[in-house]
Amino acid sequence: MKTTFSVIKADVGGWPGHATVHPDLEKIAYKSLLEAQREKIITDFHVTHCGDDLELIMTHTNGADCKEVHELAWNTFLAATEKARDLGLYGAGQDMLSDAFSGNVRGMGPGVAEIEFTERKAEPVITFLMDKTEPGAFNYPIFKIFADPFNTAGLVIDPSIHSGFIFEVWDIQEHKHVFLRTPEEMYDLLALIGAKSRFVVKRVFPKEDSKLPAKEPVSAISTEKLYQIAGEYVGKDDPVGIVRAQSGLPAVGEVLEGFTNAHLVSGWMRGSHNGPLMPVSVKDAKCTRFDGPPRVVALGFQLKNAKITQPVDLFDDPAFNRVREEALHITDYMRRMGPFEPHRLPMEDMEYTTLPKVMKKLGTRFKKFK
Ligand code: F6R
Ligand code: MG
Ligand code: MG
Repeated sequence: MKTTFSVIKADVGGWPGHATVHPDLEKIAYKSLLEAQREKIITDFHVTHCGDDLELIMTHTNGADCKEVHELAWNTFLAATEKARDLGLYGAGQDMLSDAFSGNVRGMGPGVAEIEFTERKAEPVITFLMDKTEPGAFNYPIFKIFADPFNTAGLVIDPSIHSGFIFEVWDIQEHKHVFLRTPEEMYDLLALIGAKSRFVVKRVFPKEDSKLPAKEPVSAISTEKLYQIAGEYVGKDDPVGIVRAQSGLPAVGEVLEGFTNAHLVSGWMRGSHNGPLMPVSVKDAKCTRFDGPPRVVALGFQLKNAKITQPVDLFDDPAFNRVREEALHITDYMRRMGPFEPHRLPMEDMEYTTLPKVMKKLGTRFKKFK
């Protein structure tokens, strides 16, 4: 029997503004998932948040895109939205972009990362939860983890991962995907995923000679684009990702090493600014300064027979103090740029924000010059 690991998230109301999730919403979600566990729709679960996003981490044996599991997530977000309305939370129901559930939450507002796989004897799984950024924020760390020998020592010294991995990259504008093999096609891969607002890593697969089944992903990232669903700016698409680790995969420490550079991502204030991604504990996963800076939380689980242990809050560790310090330095530096690019995103990325409305107002005042 294969196990499915599903992470489904939505912003259904912020507290205050877009800072964090009110604990009452997490309580509602916990109750809803506990009931579903009793009814055997899911095997196990954990509810948490990152910034203003409510995160449902679920395990089950129903496969990816299972209607019952997606419906459970949708109904849980609806119940939490109702509570958010009662409490007067900000932007209640923000990511619930559809009127009725249609069989799958994809394309309805929530973000989804799911993997179905055969459990090994011991199965470490890490979920990454980001706020105030977009799916392309995962490109850099996922590349480092699975393809950079300076990050992942195992790529050089462990014969079980020495032959590398296969990356599935989505072109989210053209709705096409391509599979690229590393290390052979590493430069082609980088040519694409360096353009992180258009090309995003969707999944990573082992190679044919791996002891892991070739068709089962070892990592998956949510790639929902809210503006494509809503047709206008409704917040960034704060993504989630799943990474499996150890025995034929990068070690937990090699996975976490991918997040030690406070790399620049798009999002932050009004989804319109570049800024550093700061790894934080759940306790610090609230977006404050300039609605940020963008944050990432890492929760580590061991999985057995689709049951999960309590999570370990992996960035809750002094080993990440320096990268947090660096993120804060970068924050000071970038903020001094104010409304100037490249702190503010380039015009083509501002297309779906509120800026075009401001530009329109100026439209008739522009006259041709010679
Ligand atoms: C970014 C985000 C916030 C809001 C900002 C303005 O993803 O959610 O930075 O864009 O707080 O919010 P509104 O327009 O709701 O006042
Ligand atoms: Mg919000
Ligand atoms: Mg958010």
